[in-house]
Amino acid sequence: MITGITGQDGAYLAKLLLEKGYEVVGSMRRTTISDPIRLMELGIAGDVELCDIDLFEFSNIVRALERVKPDEIYNLAAQSFVSLSFEQPLYTGEIDGLGVARLLEAIRAVVPSVRYYQASTSEMFGKAQQVPQSETTPFYPRSPYAVAKLYAHWMTVNYRESYGLHATSGILFNHESPLRGREFVTRKITHGLARVRAGELPRLDLGNLDAQRDWGFAGDYVDGMWRMLQQESPSDYVLATGRTTSVRRFVEMAAAAAGFSLAWRGKGLDEVGIDTRTDKVIVGIDPRFFRPAEVDFLIGDAGKAKAQLGWEAKTTLDALVAMMVEADMRRVREGIRGI
Ligand code: NAP
Ligand code: GDD
Repeated sequence: MITGITGQDGAYLAKLLLEKGYEVVGSMRRTTISDPIRLMELGIAGDVELCDIDLFEFSNIVRALERVKPDEIYNLAAQSFVSLSFEQPLYTGEIDGLGVARLLEAIRAVVPSVRYYQASTSEMFGKAQQVPQSETTPFYPRSPYAVAKLYAHWMTVNYRESYGLHATSGILFNHESPLRGREFVTRKITHGLARVRAGELPRLDLGNLDAQRDWGFAGDYVDGMWRMLQQESPSDYVLATGRTTSVRRFVEMAAAAAGFSLAWRGKGLDEVGIDTRTDKVIVGIDPRFFRPAEVDFLIGDAGKAKAQLGWEAKTTLDALVAMMVEADMRRVREGIRGI
């Protein structure tokens, strides 16, 4: 069972598990637009059984577990956009924090022998206390999202220690793909630049260009999730590439892949990215995209995952950028809007 099957990781994980011969049940919450577009994009929408779960509601979790009796549960469902969590801190806490407590309580009552994966996050390191960050680095969350996820992480550890659940927390650094939501910075950049290139958008406005992230490819990371649940004993694992890159550098790489010749001019809020071939501004700064508190720098140490799971990030950042830009240029060319 995968909660959050309609998201980026849900789609890649479902594909991986189907390839391994699993029966996959994916949970969705009811929304007005209910097509699982990412599953459709991967060509697996018909191969996954869908059921309704909203993590706000305890009773629908219990009923789904009673009916499905899963062997493994990957809890990927969350309000996952850090920026929105500053606007909706209570909702984010309800779903990303208490939602996990609901799920763990339901597991304890209905399927105590299930193997459980909790989607924890490098955002929990926040104002990072060590470089690089590993399973033993102290946490310092910097957003309501990260605070809620930290509660969920400790609940996962607590239910493992208190009740012997096979509950694992995967502390994943940022992972991206052509199926990434368009609100996240990498996809916003590749999608935005593809639209600028096609003349659909005058320029792309961003926030803090100097934040640095450890960006990997989502396809590699879902394999790490699966490996975690195949271990005899549950534990906590960091998944990361071990390299870090600024938003500014990501823009440069994506611009080059989209056929622009980018040069930066100006400073602060007046900084712009110019296409030197046309002298047009293609990137600007909009303070609306700054956050009340920022996570400036993340870089992970996935040594434990390598040693115990045989897991390593395989995809280079160059390959990831090329894959995302190519997908967005094709979608814009073909007029594909949904994803
Ligand atoms: P995503 O694309 O935003 O997907 C989140 C999923 O959660 C969607 O299917 C969404 O459904 C669902 N969801 C939201 N609210 C829900 C609710 N109240 N009840 C049930 N389902 C709900 O996120 P992702 O990038 O795939 O990430 C998967 C998980 O890993 C998330 O928990 C995220 O916080 C965590 N994580 C992600 C990264 C990363 O870099 N991608 C890194 C570390 C941790 P709708 O389609 O209906 O919105
Ligand atoms: N979204 C966004 N939009 N971010 C921007 C922009 C912009 O216009 N301009 C600069 N940034 C900066 C943000 O301030 C942040 O420092 C960085 O780009 C990355 O932002 P996001 O792509 O939104 O991701 P995130 O790192 O905040 O969170 C993602 O990764 C976490 C793992 O570390 C999400 O997937 C979380 O769910 C996940 O836990």
